[in-house]
Amino acid sequence: MFINFWYAAALGSEVTAEKPIKVKMLGQNFALFRDSKGVARCVSDICIHRCASLAGGKVKGDCVECPYHGWQFDGNGACTRIPSMGVNAKIPARAKIDGYPTEERYGLVFAFLGDLPEGERPPLPEIPEWGQEGWRCINLEYSWKAGWERSIEAALDPAHAEFVHTGMKFAGADEEYQIPSDLDHIKEEWGTTLHAALNTVALPQRAELGNADISAVKPAAMETKVTSKFIGPNHTVTRIQFSDTDQVCQYMWETPVDEFNVAKHLVSVRSIIISPDYDKSFNQRNLFVAEEDRVIVEDVDPMIFPESNTKEVFVPADTQLGEYRRYIKQWQARGWRIDSKQVDENKGRVAYAIPSPARREGHNFPLDSVPLISGDKKSANVA
Ligand code: FES
Ligand SMILES: [Fe+2]
Repeated sequence: MFINFWYAAALGSEVTAEKPIKVKMLGQNFALFRDSKGVARCVSDICIHRCASLAGGKVKGDCVECPYHGWQFDGNGACTRIPSMGVNAKIPARAKIDGYPTEERYGLVFAFLGDLPEGERPPLPEIPEWGQEGWRCINLEYSWKAGWERSIEAALDPAHAEFVHTGMKFAGADEEYQIPSDLDHIKEEWGTTLHAALNTVALPQRAELGNADISAVKPAAMETKVTSKFIGPNHTVTRIQFSDTDQVCQYMWETPVDEFNVAKHLVSVRSIIISPDYDKSFNQRNLFVAEEDRVIVEDVDPMIFPESNTKEVFVPADTQLGEYRRYIKQWQARGWRIDSKQVDENKGRVAYAIPSPARREGHNFPLDSVPLISGDKKSANVA
């Protein structure tokens, strides 16, 4: 799991000014709430007085109030009130928690979980179709008991569809089935994009797939253009083009809850059958397809990538997966990978926080920063 990327934390509708919510990401808990201006805020969940969970407290104006002794912290993590010290008390300088930059877009609240200054942060990937005429965008939330890297890999894997997504493909019955070995593969700063043309069949009309009939735009077996992309360790984009105008695109933010559980925040975008009447049906279809992946990916062992690719066999269809692992290694070389073995060893003994940008300005934080695997700057250049 990596610090210094943007992570989808929750649906915007879940983050309110009524009550903070607790969200676990990267193995640590966070408290999310909405301040008096309506801005979604995200802070480390552990109160630095006696370590109570702030998410169990209340929202008071621009602050979250700890349920134990009523200390209040604003969205930047500054302690603004210590009731036991009286009304005009001088707050100790060390009374601060980590507060994280947030952005609310695409129905989701994103938090930048890391300490990079603004100008150095990887971008928050965009959805150009969002709010555009002729497109319908819907959210879907679910989670898997799976390693986050394995989950991302399933999204980048062109060869599994034939065998896993039996409703779209030929279920291994196509004698001609082959993934071309010369797929167009573009390397970018924060990931790669793969272009492929795959033979597919239309999903049949089945009750469990909902009532959206996409057969009109996707008739029988046909060549479908598929674009598959990753941006950073936790975001994939899968665009399926039935024609220039008829498209479905899946923007998936996968937030590691910890190394063995992943929260999936999907924004599903379509230019076909855009009536909201079919939203439920499309999400039913999305969930059906996800379920086909889930039963496979949850049983992959080890759940975390092996240290070396020599422990698995790679073939040309796995090119993008190999690239994903290469980028992962290079982000690790920057020193951004959490040492989750050490975190697990100290579970219940040491409280950690993901370092926030404010730690760059002053180190006097009571909580330890989460341990990181030391980097190797020489091999840290991705492009
Ligand atoms: S533990 Fe939070 S105020 Fe005491
Ligand atoms: Fe899949």
